[in-house]
Amino acid sequence: MMSTMSLQTKSSFNVKQSDSKSKEFHVPVMIKEVIEYLNIQENGIYVDGTLGSGGHSAEILSNISQGKLIGLDRDAEALKTSKERFSASACPIILEKESYHNYLNVLKKNKIKNADGILLDLGLSAMQLLSSNRGFTFKKNEKLDMRFDIDSGINASQFLHQLSQQDLAKIINKYSDERFSLKISKAIKAKENLKTTFDLKNAIDEVTPTHKRSKTYARVFQSIRIAVNEELQKLKKFFSLFLYGLKAGSRAVFISYHSIEDRIVKHSLKGLKNDGKIKILTKKPILPQRKEIIINPKSRSAKLRAIEVL
Ligand SMILES: C[S@@+](CC[C@H](N)C(=O)[O-])C[C@H]1O[C@@H](n2cnc3c(N)ncnc32)[C@H](O)[C@@H]1O
Repeated sequence: MMSTMSLQTKSSFNVKQSDSKSKEFHVPVMIKEVIEYLNIQENGIYVDGTLGSGGHSAEILSNISQGKLIGLDRDAEALKTSKERFSASACPIILEKESYHNYLNVLKKNKIKNADGILLDLGLSAMQLLSSNRGFTFKKNEKLDMRFDIDSGINASQFLHQLSQQDLAKIINKYSDERFSLKISKAIKAKENLKTTFDLKNAIDEVTPTHKRSKTYARVFQSIRIAVNEELQKLKKFFSLFLYGLKAGSRAVFISYHSIEDRIVKHSLKGLKNDGKIKILTKKPILPQRKEIIINPKSRSAKLRAIEVL
């Protein structure tokens, strides 16, 4: 495996160092492992399918003096942040508001036959959680939106209004194993219309014990977010086609933060391996080291899997 030291000494020379803004940036998870498993080539074409504020992309860019970066995100704000961050980059960059499962269309539109590597760092960014004002967090009273892409689909408030109580119970139970899912779904549906994150919290409060309630909030909010954004459907779609955009010998790295997501990644990769299309580079998922978790507690649930295309 490539030494990370040698990769890092190439440095972030071509990336705008926005110090005043850097505090807002999402801290990229397992950055060293991502770069090593992608086996970055200086003239390679790399797709960051979940660009966020560009933490992983900045490191990819630092290592591809003659290559190209394609960054995708469904969130227009994330794209704007990354565009500013990379405005001084010497390397060609294509940044588009697009779901990663449509990355083949982006390659085609830009007359790129295939790429040398792709990264999916799933879930949501610290930026979205802390400052998007879109209702991803239960810690602040915000509009209950929860969409990554505010130009498409319905927001969480409308979603909860339209969904039947039975379907809501299934979603909360399936996506979070929340033991009070039935009671919570009934409390939510008993409300006329939930408009804000605190409306949702109040409904949860009515039917759950106070003990470890923050974890209950986190589980319920996460399940609703996953459903509103159809995250699992998009992930499955991606796995049905992603190999068509990758060269033989290219790499793909997946970081998931949720057991259902990781199961989809694991089983999809196993199927492709059994078909003789890929080699799995990580027998078991790679987890962040203790020192990373201490610095960035949000990394604690991350699982990284990597493959090489045959
Ligand atoms: C964990 S963050 C990525 C952080 C990024 N690696 C960084 O270092 O800044 C996940 C990002 O994926 C985006 N996202 C979620 N689903 C997506 C999809 N289907 N297509 C593209 N982006 C998506 C979210 O909007 C969010 O910005």
